[in-house]
Amino acid sequence: MLKGKDLLSIHDLSVAEVEEILSLAKELKAMQKAGVEHHLLAGKTLGMIFEKSSTRTRVSFETGMYQLGGQALFLSSRDLQLGRGEPIKDTARVLSRYLDGIMIRTFGHDRVEELAKWADIPVINALTDLLHPCQVLTDLLTIREHKGQNLKGLKMAYVGDGNNMTNSYLYGCAKVGMTFVAATPEDYRPDATVFENACKDAEETGAELSLVTDPQEAVKDADIVVTDTWASMGQEAEHEMRKKIFAPYQVNKELLKGADKRVIVMHCLPAYRGEEITEEVLEANADVIFDEAENRLHTQKAIMALTMGD
Ligand code: CP
Ligand code: NVA
Repeated sequence: MLKGKDLLSIHDLSVAEVEEILSLAKELKAMQKAGVEHHLLAGKTLGMIFEKSSTRTRVSFETGMYQLGGQALFLSSRDLQLGRGEPIKDTARVLSRYLDGIMIRTFGHDRVEELAKWADIPVINALTDLLHPCQVLTDLLTIREHKGQNLKGLKMAYVGDGNNMTNSYLYGCAKVGMTFVAATPEDYRPDATVFENACKDAEETGAELSLVTDPQEAVKDADIVVTDTWASMGQEAEHEMRKKIFAPYQVNKELLKGADKRVIVMHCLPAYRGEEITEEVLEANADVIFDEAENRLHTQKAIMALTMGD
């Protein structure tokens, strides 16, 4: 179903396509653990354009391509002519002549859309200021591993800045029928259009989505509590100011008292201990959080195999 398609946003995927990605990710993870060869992209090349920093995304996509029998090229915008002003539409058409897929991490979401418009090979969004779909699909796989296959009805509470992760959680939870509550300061809510679109998607699955300002209200009886940095890439100059604004939104032991007894805490990493999450809470949930980091590899292998494979 996904063959030849782009993956720019979970909103663009059907409920069945989300399931297809999660199922294949699970299967590929099992194959890799069992040492079974799975060269689904033999002879294929992925270009990875990075206009922002990365540890997990870069290493998991590059290793993933290798494990699938293909290869990946790390293309920093510092080195590409793109970084010197070559238009995206020219870059897209040139790269389409050499590669089988392009992964891009950048600032404005419009840059990814422009790349996808002009490229005639699949484009995968590896984070924009608006969305981080690969991470949220990964998180859904990780929740299944820790809470069971049936995601419907599970409650996830997000506490912190309404950013690219929050926006993608709205889209992800809507597609799988989860309850999602985001607690953010009034002026730092997730994107209004994303919320509106996600609410429409939720009609199909029965997901319940809501936005509040009180962290306690959000985490009440939550099965999963999740947070992310208070200052995303590109917002470094606001970091000190944001630390003051978001101080009441820290995920700590006290806040978690209101959650379900078996609550798991997730974080896409990198984490800023003592800011959005305490050292104590992070380390107490390290098994889940590092499974989440590992699962980037398996989920992205599934995405690449489905979009770029034969
Ligand atoms: N979570 C995540 O995307 O990590 P990186 O920024 O290290 O890629
Ligand atoms: N919201 C964070 C996510 C990092 C993976 C950022 O955009 O920097």
